[in-house]
Amino acid sequence: MKQANANEKSIERMLDQRETLLIVDDEAAIRRVLYQKLSREGYQCEEADAAEQVLNTLATSPIALVILDIKMPGKSGIELLPEIKSGYPDTAVIMATAVTDINVAIQCLKQGADDYLCKPFNLEEVSLAVQRALEKRRLKLEIREYQQFLEEKVEEQTGEIRKIFLGAIEALVSALEAKDKYTGGHSRRVTEIALALGNELGLSAQDMEDLRWGSLLHDVGKIAVDQLVQNKPDKLTREEYEHIMIHAHVGADIVRPLVNGKIAEMIEHHHDRYDGSGLHQVIAGNDIPLEARILAVADALDAMTSDRPYRPAMSIAEAIDEIKRCAGTQFDPDIVTAFLKTAKTATK
Ligand SMILES: [Fe+2]
Repeated sequence: MKQANANEKSIERMLDQRETLLIVDDEAAIRRVLYQKLSREGYQCEEADAAEQVLNTLATSPIALVILDIKMPGKSGIELLPEIKSGYPDTAVIMATAVTDINVAIQCLKQGADDYLCKPFNLEEVSLAVQRALEKRRLKLEIREYQQFLEEKVEEQTGEIRKIFLGAIEALVSALEAKDKYTGGHSRRVTEIALALGNELGLSAQDMEDLRWGSLLHDVGKIAVDQLVQNKPDKLTREEYEHIMIHAHVGADIVRPLVNGKIAEMIEHHHDRYDGSGLHQVIAGNDIPLEARILAVADALDAMTSDRPYRPAMSIAEAIDEIKRCAGTQFDPDIVTAFLKTAKTATK
């Protein structure tokens, strides 16, 4: 977005500026005639008599159009044309050539020149060719500016739509949690803990935003879990445990069309164990996305300090000890270290 803005600004500048022409010919008399004619017509003009001077001028001042002599001592106009076009694609180029070199001029058009003029010059033709080339250049710049504006608008609207959808899913998560007396407010609390951890780990603003959405939505897949199983007061059977654990996969599938892959992966892997010993786990250690490893600690802390149908809530101190005990097995030890720092600050 920033890049588009910068480009847009530079296009605006190019369009606003009085257009400067660069007249290139090794003969001073020819340059003078063109200079006088085009200056009288209101253009700002600069002159160059050789390739090196052309490149220096282009590098130091914004040139809208170059009238480029084909035959010059040293580097010719034909050799210079591709350099101008690749280095300064927004600069129009009109080739100037003797009538006998028309085929060369046509070749130049194929290589990106905007037009050609024959020597000796008919000054009215020069004037018309300059007007045409500048108009074409203006249109090109305006179209690009419009395209950038549209791209920016589409990006903005897509972001808005995405936010609305994610907000709706978040509301669905809250509704699911509100229905269940054991999990009310779980996702919001997990998000706060995860963000504190993300902050401690120095995550970028974009990663923090992903972490926020992933944490808020991590249990949306519970919509597919049988409430009776979820609230069973006794020990779960293997089948029941497997049934509950489908929520990670279902949740990732629900959000995948709306969020970036990273958020979906974070939800998919939020119950992965660091040592790889989790149910149907396919990755382990640092292959588990960082945000999923953060979420695992945050999720466990809130789960342990909340009542569950099968056990009462643990104290914060007990939960911290349990997380410490599981560093390297269930949890990433580096994240446990960061967690202990945030826990220390929070309990100060
Ligand atoms: Fe979960």
